[in-house]
Amino acid sequence: MKVLLAGCAGQLGRTIQESWNEHELIVPSESEFDITDWPTAKRVVEDVRPEVVVNAAAYTDVDACEARPELAYKVNALGPRHLASACLLTGAALVHISSNCVFDGSASRPYLEFDPANPISVYGASKQAGDQVVRDVLPRHYIVRTAWMYSALGRNFVKTILRLGAERPGLSMVADEVSSPTFAPDLASALQALVQEPLYGTYHLTNYGECSRLEFAREILRLAGKPHFPLEPISLRDYQRPSRPPLYSPLANTCAAAIGVTVRPWQEALAELVPQLLG
Ligand SMILES: NC(=O)c1ccc[n+]([C@@H]2O[C@H](COP(=O)([O-])OP(=O)(O)OC[C@H]3O[C@@H](n4cnc5c(N)ncnc54)[C@H](OP(=O)(O)O)[C@@H]3O)[C@@H](O)[C@H]2O)c1
Repeated sequence: MKVLLAGCAGQLGRTIQESWNEHELIVPSESEFDITDWPTAKRVVEDVRPEVVVNAAAYTDVDACEARPELAYKVNALGPRHLASACLLTGAALVHISSNCVFDGSASRPYLEFDPANPISVYGASKQAGDQVVRDVLPRHYIVRTAWMYSALGRNFVKTILRLGAERPGLSMVADEVSSPTFAPDLASALQALVQEPLYGTYHLTNYGECSRLEFAREILRLAGKPHFPLEPISLRDYQRPSRPPLYSPLANTCAAAIGVTVRPWQEALAELVPQLLG
């Protein structure tokens, strides 16, 4: 399958490049494939004529989005609109990556693909707008929401906790923000399975299970040989930051599971990565 990748330099983009070996992957740089520029997006998709476009590009600095809403909407909503429109012109399907942050976090069970979105941050609202324009423009879409992504590449929570665990005597950790940590290589592999099926729509793809930031940090440090590292539980209310994340946003992967695409528990994936990062 000929696949065109947008956002190749990001955490997921780099992971896809490492793992989608069964496909012919076309990987323009961000400067060659700026998704916010319609003539560029259209020209690149028309030139490449892929069967599938994967949009791993996004403005992902959640706190910075609060101060720069125009840029957030430009990259996270206008960009997907350009890609969806170019796909419509050329007959390609679009895999568009979205986020747990489209939900408000007030649920008492993991969010289903069919639950209404209600974002509470600029980032979440811009991602929700991106989902909506993709749905409006292109029937052949896979909108794939994920959460708390980490890998050996780029900056992420796992690497931060390992670094701080080595530098500091103890850490305060949010105990009431809960979601589903997701190992980027597991997501990349599930995406690869998903695009084999012409079953379009919205999907949730995360590692199985849920935990709080505190439980996530505790497991990272346990795997790093520091089971007794002092962690002080705090509330999200006490953790000052410009944006407000959803309090409870685990994602139930029901639509993928219905076609046999499942992702292993988050603890198993983490146990694979932490020794690699330490070794
Ligand atoms: N990371 C998470 O925890 C998480 C959780 C839920 C959902 N997601 C979603 O998963 C997807 C991938 O996330 P990620 O962690 O891989 O993000 P990332 O590491 O920030 O990668 C995003 C990439 O998109 C690029 N980009 C920004 N503006 C662009 C433009 N106009 N045209 C082309 N490329 C552009 C960025 O380049 P620059 O760095 O040069 O700006 C960056 O290389 C995103 O849709 C994100 O919303 C991520």
